[in-house]
Amino acid sequence: MMDSTKPVRWGVIGPGRIAATFAAALQDPAVGMLQAACSRDRARAQAFLDEHGGSQAFGSMAAFLQEAEVDAVYIATPHMRHAEDALACLEAGLPVLIEKPLATSEADASAVLSAAESSGLLAMEAMWTAFLPNVKRFLSLAEQAAQDGPAVGHIDFQFAPDVGPDHRLRNAALAGGALLDVGVYALSMASWLLGQPALVASSMTWDSETGVDRSASVVLTAGERRVTVSFGMDVDGPRTVQWSTPRGRVMLGPDWFTERAVVTTEAPAKWDGRRPAGSLVNEEVAADVSRPGFAYQVEAFERALRAGRTNVPERTADDVRMVHRLMDELRASWGLRYPFEVA
Ligand SMILES: NC(=O)c1ccc[n+]([C@@H]2O[C@H](COP(=O)([O-])OP(=O)(O)OC[C@H]3O[C@@H](n4cnc5c(N)ncnc54)[C@H](OP(=O)(O)O)[C@@H]3O)[C@@H](O)[C@H]2O)c1
Repeated sequence: MMDSTKPVRWGVIGPGRIAATFAAALQDPAVGMLQAACSRDRARAQAFLDEHGGSQAFGSMAAFLQEAEVDAVYIATPHMRHAEDALACLEAGLPVLIEKPLATSEADASAVLSAAESSGLLAMEAMWTAFLPNVKRFLSLAEQAAQDGPAVGHIDFQFAPDVGPDHRLRNAALAGGALLDVGVYALSMASWLLGQPALVASSMTWDSETGVDRSASVVLTAGERRVTVSFGMDVDGPRTVQWSTPRGRVMLGPDWFTERAVVTTEAPAKWDGRRPAGSLVNEEVAADVSRPGFAYQVEAFERALRAGRTNVPERTADDVRMVHRLMDELRASWGLRYPFEVA
């Protein structure tokens, strides 16, 4: 167990775009510090540390695992590297915070989570959204509104990145595509609203240039609850969640997966669509933008690390396995395989 008086020393593998957001979140006074970075090119690791702080730059995993003086590792490499990088860290006795999705398949995610469980080390998917206070508030209001009755959800996560075919978002060899990049957020939200969802139907479009999935709409159910999930990389927005019940609606947006999203509730309309005057918005919960959104997940990870736990309640191993199983099921139904999966 870690000494509670010392800051957690972090190492970063894959010092790219999101690793910079992570390093900025380490400025939050409630969390640890950047100690080391590992790139395929030591000069890039050094440039990252020059910008964000930290003293140990490495140009190979082998050197990083042998020499880095770190308490935990943040893995921010492209999707197809996550499981292998995480397993190498766990084997070296290092706890891991792994960017989403934890792996490209349920089998690989399970291999990482089982390795962590059997070695008593913490391995957590960096589903930062699960830790945000506004998202937690939304989920608690959504549960109150539905109680045990019917509910209909709409979850959207669409954006239109202007990137070429080699970029990791579109590159099949790096397991790019909408499902693993943004679908994982939307399906996670669906699982929080539905519990264990059943996949009813889906439709998708392809990136004709690179062969990855460009967009999809998915229908999921659990008892009297049903959710439509749409995600994609072809149009800009919407990026909201709506949850409608006989007791009213709860909404999260405009960018529901961030610390900036606001929770709004709405009283039920009469059967003709009219609402009693003044009852349109019952409650509006402003987002907490006082600290970087990533700091919440880092704080939860560090709390579990110090307590010697291998799991975090907001993102349990079972949740991660379930969402990866759903992604496997979708990919199988679409016939989507990455080049490294084709024998
Ligand atoms: N939580 C969020 O909000 C969020 C947002 C964006 C992305 N992400 C996730 O974060 C991960 C990284 O995304 P990013 O946008 O930061 O990507 P990025 O800017 O391309 O950074 C990824 C880094 O991984 C390293 N890398 C190792 N092997 C690689 C390979 N074979 N090909 C390319 N790069 C390789 C590269 O560093 P070197 O070249 O220096 O080795 C690269 O800088 C992805 O899993 C993504 O889904 C999360």
